[in-house]
Amino acid sequence: MSAPYALHGNVAVITLDNPPVNGLGHALRTAIVAGLTAAQDDPAVAAIVLIGAGKAFSGGADIREFNTPKAFAEPTLFTVIKMIEASAKPVVAAIHAVAMGGGLELALSCHFRVAVAGAQIALPEVKLGILPGAGGTQRLPRVVGLEMALNMIVSGTAIPSEKLAKTKLFDQMIEGDLLSGAVAFAQAVVAEKRPLKLVRNLKVEHPNPEAFLQFAANMVATVARNYPAPPACVEAVKAAATLPFDQGLKKERELFLMLVQTPESKALRHAFFAERAASKIPDVPEDTPVRPVKSAAVIGAGTMGGGIAMNFANAGIPVTMLEMKQDALDRGLGVIRKNYENSAKKGRLTPEKMQQRIDLIKGTLEYADIGGADIVIEAVFEDMNVKEAVFKKLDEVMKPGAILASNTSTLDVDKIASFTKRPQDVIGTHFFSPANVMKLLEIVRGKATAKDVLATTMKLSKTIKKTGVVSGVCDGFIGNRMVEQYLRQAMLLVEEGALPWEVDRALEKFGWAMGPFRMSDLAGLDVGWYIRKRRYVEKPDMVYSKWIDRICEMGRFGQKTGAGVYKYEAGRRDPIPDPMIAELVVNYSKEVGVARRKIGEDEMVHRCVYALVNEGAKILEEGIALRASDIDIVYLTGYGFPLYRGGPMLYADSQGLVNVIATMKQFAKNPHGDPKFWEPAAMLAKLAAEGKTFTPS
Ligand SMILES: NC(=O)c1ccc[n+]([C@@H]2O[C@H](COP(=O)([O-])OP(=O)(O)OC[C@H]3O[C@@H](n4cnc5c(N)ncnc54)[C@H](O)[C@@H]3O)[C@@H](O)[C@H]2O)c1
Repeated sequence: MSAPYALHGNVAVITLDNPPVNGLGHALRTAIVAGLTAAQDDPAVAAIVLIGAGKAFSGGADIREFNTPKAFAEPTLFTVIKMIEASAKPVVAAIHAVAMGGGLELALSCHFRVAVAGAQIALPEVKLGILPGAGGTQRLPRVVGLEMALNMIVSGTAIPSEKLAKTKLFDQMIEGDLLSGAVAFAQAVVAEKRPLKLVRNLKVEHPNPEAFLQFAANMVATVARNYPAPPACVEAVKAAATLPFDQGLKKERELFLMLVQTPESKALRHAFFAERAASKIPDVPEDTPVRPVKSAAVIGAGTMGGGIAMNFANAGIPVTMLEMKQDALDRGLGVIRKNYENSAKKGRLTPEKMQQRIDLIKGTLEYADIGGADIVIEAVFEDMNVKEAVFKKLDEVMKPGAILASNTSTLDVDKIASFTKRPQDVIGTHFFSPANVMKLLEIVRGKATAKDVLATTMKLSKTIKKTGVVSGVCDGFIGNRMVEQYLRQAMLLVEEGALPWEVDRALEKFGWAMGPFRMSDLAGLDVGWYIRKRRYVEKPDMVYSKWIDRICEMGRFGQKTGAGVYKYEAGRRDPIPDPMIAELVVNYSKEVGVARRKIGEDEMVHRCVYALVNEGAKILEEGIALRASDIDIVYLTGYGFPLYRGGPMLYADSQGLVNVIATMKQFAKNPHGDPKFWEPAAMLAKLAAEGKTFTPS
């Protein structure tokens, strides 16, 4: 890492060089300061150009230094900015590819900026629940205008440089080689003795800033709801428009320091790092060789098979779907075509792209047609006998080295692997419905799964734009094993006195995308019923409330049958509370001898969420999940847990694990509860006793 200093005639060129995106870490900041000092001291230098090496001008802060003392060590970005502003020699930022966050703030402190087209310009801090803290909120409105700056800062969205070419952000757009263009520009500045411009001295121009800012504040307040950062961004930009520059900077600083402390920002930063951590598997180094995946096959063209096939086609990978019967295949292919046509109608896909993708998906009834695929994903009925037949056949027909994956949601992947003579090539790929939309992919590592198979599947998850999380083999893997406990509590709450929609409302207020019963109606009540019937036999001592089985017995399976826990109007998805179900649950309570009571929302939320936490702790203990943050990612990307709370495990951390256990002990006293249920998992008890958290802070 360095900022090599080179002379191009009378221009000193300082190159930001800290791969991959020239993050402004401590070493790079130090090197920039050294370069600037050398340039100031060198009488042969008349101007300075700052340029980025490789793939970016600068992507901003170096995320590897987040939460380390290096992030705040001198020289800070403030110091670098001050030095540039104080320079008597013109400093020119030469921008290509990426100027984001601190990188853009650095450029904004320069006297001049030149850029090539296609560079991504952004202040994305809001996405981490903070705001640009090195003058970005004060300087950007002075060069791109109040409205554009506010939109950029509140949304964090990147704007291509050419769209900003006519603003004061850029003094010149360069065609051809950026370095020679920037050096020539700097030489012209010197030759023409152009005055040095500082963005801080410009005025924010707008015909009616007060009215606009009021309007923006109202809009943002409604949209941002649970996130404090966007309204704070508006406030900071308002300071740029209404206060002298240095006072505005002070305001920005105050707001920044306030936001860094918010639980929402902590949660967003946690999610950001958790997603990166999830791709790291301790015993599978990042340089593990991967198998090429240039073609794929999917067995079963049902709900999941079709969505999985679309993922491959969307990534440009040809895929063949195999079915048992022509009509099932035609139906599956038809659904895919319809999905693509809908996307095209909504303008999300051009007709050409739509056709390209459709053409990448072939159907067959013959195993002979899929033997050459690099990966095959089985998505047939959830029945071990069917899986056995399919995997025996795959073992026969697939070429050596092909990855054999199963999309099973509950079955034992090791057992499935044992149906083949190549268990090392077998892995679980648990997609979520709709498989072409949902981000989460649980990657189930079997006992025998080879490391390169795991590494290849992790890489594939990125290729098909999924968030891959590794899970060990157990019933339900990470997500569904936990959700079973969550749903058990939700059902018990209804037996004890709440109505299903009251439980949903409480959890939705907490921030879930959907309460447990809306979610069940969407997934299909028959899915859970099928699993519960197995539980009643396998684990008869597990306490279950069975009112929901009565609904299933009536053939109400949720949205797909037009009624479930809720009722639905034909063709609509809005759940309507059904008085008949209210009556059913009240009668059920009577029947099982429970005197219904009024249950507070806090109890509803915490019984459901702590059920997740306790099971999550067991999953960690057993090594099914590699880290607590992986569990959080599963819940954020697959189950609609509120992002601003960072996932169930971070939520428990934020409450204090001692307090979590104390609340669980309260729940255990409930005469209609299941005291065993609330026995804290050993890991939870241990961490609480040691005053620790699931995710080290
Ligand atoms: N539906 C979900 O939400 C969901 C989510 C995650 C995982 N899964 C899992 O995905 C798998 C498929 O579920 P689904 O919901 O798509 O089921 P589905 O019933 O919609 O589709 C299964 C398809 O497989 C076909 N099929 C059955 N046996 C076959 C065989 N021997 N050879 C070829 N095709 C065969 C059927 O004709 C049917 O089209 C199951 O293991 C399920 O547990 C489902």
